[in-house]
Amino acid sequence: MSAIPAVYYYDEHPSEADFYAEVIAGLTRRPRRIPPKFFYDERGSELFDAICRTEDYYPTRTEQALLQQNAGEIFDLIGERCRLIEPGSGNSEKVRLLLDVLRPSVYVPMDISRDFLYQAADQVAREYPWLEIHAACVDFTAPLSLPFCPPGGRKLIFFPGSSIGNFEPEQAEMFLRNLIPVAGPQGSLLIGVDLKKDPAILNAAYNDREGVTAAFNLNLLHRIGRELDAELNPQLFTHHAYYNAALGRIEMHLVSQQAQQLTIDGQRFDFDKNESIHTESSYKYTVEEFIDLAGRAGFTSRQVWTDPDNLFSLHYFDVAED
Ligand code: AVJ
Repeated sequence: MSAIPAVYYYDEHPSEADFYAEVIAGLTRRPRRIPPKFFYDERGSELFDAICRTEDYYPTRTEQALLQQNAGEIFDLIGERCRLIEPGSGNSEKVRLLLDVLRPSVYVPMDISRDFLYQAADQVAREYPWLEIHAACVDFTAPLSLPFCPPGGRKLIFFPGSSIGNFEPEQAEMFLRNLIPVAGPQGSLLIGVDLKKDPAILNAAYNDREGVTAAFNLNLLHRIGRELDAELNPQLFTHHAYYNAALGRIEMHLVSQQAQQLTIDGQRFDFDKNESIHTESSYKYTVEEFIDLAGRAGFTSRQVWTDPDNLFSLHYFDVAED
């Protein structure tokens, strides 16, 4: 038997009441919109992992290659025994590409999907018994506060996967600004950002041929059916995703195939044929656009790595000195 790994758990999970209230509010407003964080129930987190394994969704494998190839350089930038903090850690797969090289003293994964997070943290603890782990179930789109984090080396906030793309640009800037007190004066940020590119590549990535992205989008309706007192038929909606070049973002929608009514907790929502629920925006940035945005938030660019096809960027920033 091996020693029990040191994993500490913190639960600030958003309650069922938040899901209910945000679904009602989101279906009431026009255009109708439900925040993408609600994709990630247990099933949604699994479907997201499956998206990452499709041939059409290039960001995950491209970023993984960048992390693997440049881990040594990242270590040179952050130094020994850093404290590694990861908002939206999901299955903690990407961090594994860094752990052996960075050898952090502590790892703080944070995710909205509680069971998924705890399982992932336990698995990392088993594979890296030397690593102290503090797993926090939080909604990182709310102002981020760190759970107890032991003293140690410099803090590195790891925010891969282009999760930043889900925020509107002004919100993204605010999110980054709020990371500054979390990272501290000597802290750094390692962040993956999907690049602007040929719309055909973008459209294919969000309309994968295996239909996993469609299932992921539609799972939101299934989740409403599972968790809320709802009368609705997810089969009467279809997945629609496209690149909006004017706004520099992928938009995902659930489109009503016919005029219909949904009921949630006795409240009725009337849909016209082709009326949509906007479920996600995924903003794309050039390297320069993102350095500017992070600069306005108080970060100084130290390094940017991109792949040979210019699909994806990995940025390393320091908290700017004032
Ligand atoms: C997790 C927000 C980075 O925008 O590409 C993938 C989510 N949605 N396919 C993205 C997603 C549809 C993903 N992020």
